[in-house]
Amino acid sequence: MQNAAMTQDAPTTRQDPADWYAGGLPHIWLPYAQMKTMTAPLPVARTDGCRIILADGRELIDGIASWWTACHGYNHPHIREALVRQAGVMPHVMFGGLVHEPALRLARRLVALLPGNLDRVFFSESGSVAVEIALKMAVQFWRNHGQGERNRLVTFRGAYHGDTTGAMALGDPQDGMHGGFKGLPTEHICVDLPTDEPSTEALRRVLERDAEKLAGIIVEPLVQGAGGMRFHDAATLRRLRELADDYDLLLIFDEIFTGFGRTGTMFGCEAAGVVPDIITLSKALTGGTLPLAATVASRRVFEAFWSDDPRHALTHGPTYMANALACAAANASLDLFEREPRLAQVRAISAALARGLAPCSALPGVKDVRVQGAIGVVELDRIDDLDALRGRFIDEGVFVRPFGSVIYLTPAFTIGDEELAALTKAVLKVIGDLARGP
Ligand SMILES: Cc1ncc(COP(=O)(O)O)c(C=O)c1O
Repeated sequence: MQNAAMTQDAPTTRQDPADWYAGGLPHIWLPYAQMKTMTAPLPVARTDGCRIILADGRELIDGIASWWTACHGYNHPHIREALVRQAGVMPHVMFGGLVHEPALRLARRLVALLPGNLDRVFFSESGSVAVEIALKMAVQFWRNHGQGERNRLVTFRGAYHGDTTGAMALGDPQDGMHGGFKGLPTEHICVDLPTDEPSTEALRRVLERDAEKLAGIIVEPLVQGAGGMRFHDAATLRRLRELADDYDLLLIFDEIFTGFGRTGTMFGCEAAGVVPDIITLSKALTGGTLPLAATVASRRVFEAFWSDDPRHALTHGPTYMANALACAAANASLDLFEREPRLAQVRAISAALARGLAPCSALPGVKDVRVQGAIGVVELDRIDDLDALRGRFIDEGVFVRPFGSVIYLTPAFTIGDEELAALTKAVLKVIGDLARGP
């Protein structure tokens, strides 16, 4: 635990990255990157609050909080203290046949925060795995009820549920990130979200036709994140609950992005007053410090596995399940949600994002500007050169990473007013420069 993030004394900002960077980079394979043509990644020396400090001393204001995980900002002392304490007691112990206080306390606290009777927590180590587990729970739920043919899910255009092959299969097969894998995983049924009368009727027809093959419906409530930062309303989620009930399907909410305040309420499902049968959580669960995820099942789902028949048990068990350090970090993160005004901060960020990004609407090439909670999105007609655009943000002293045709901001909830203003100004400036051309 003696790295920079874990010690009180910040190391010098300037350090010579020559050794670790030049020596290690040839052995690293980076995510979603064409390694041959990509712009070289930036060497990071440390993080602090809402800042990323590069090895050459430059400081970037972070606009995306490390894929939306660092909701309290980086290096929060309360989480750090919890980690140091837990590291001294027990960093990890296997969860098969053994349990420990940080995990059980966390499970109890999560259940208390979640609506309805979502009250059984299955821990894992990443969002994709949490989704795989939700999928297995849904399919095995029906198997345990003697309906083994119900093994597909309804998913939605624009969906993204992770990178493992089972989770990939739940993404949009046409326009999603994994179109190239079409044919590899099980095909589920991908339709438009029921946002209006015609799309609701279309979904109803699919359910009418295929209900016997279906285990459930999976959706990211309110915001489809990595699939394009697309928003839908609470009424859509209420329609999904009704349809799931009408056709006796399990409703799964993937709240890996939307959970822990990001959309304005602690969980997206709260805004709609809808209780899903299974919910997946990760990302901000540990306040952006350690990998941890949870798949939480309702009593009805759990009861289908409660049996004298060993074959009815859920067959899953990741090695690092309920890692004690990660659970300690998650408990500390929940303390911060209790002690500090996070949801009020989200409301203030929301207003500032709406104000700061609104002028983008007037710029050429801008298709849409939208804000939901602490998520600000500027959608362009198209982005021709993503790498160049990302580089422009670095030149402006901010870390913003557009994808597809969207530029988005998902800052830490603790971001200062000036830092947030710097982010929205940078977005405005970079889009303005883009419109003016080279
Ligand atoms: C809604 C949603 N589900 C699942 C995942 C996958 O999580 P992970 O990258 O931790 O596997 C993500 C990641 O962005 C996500 O946004």
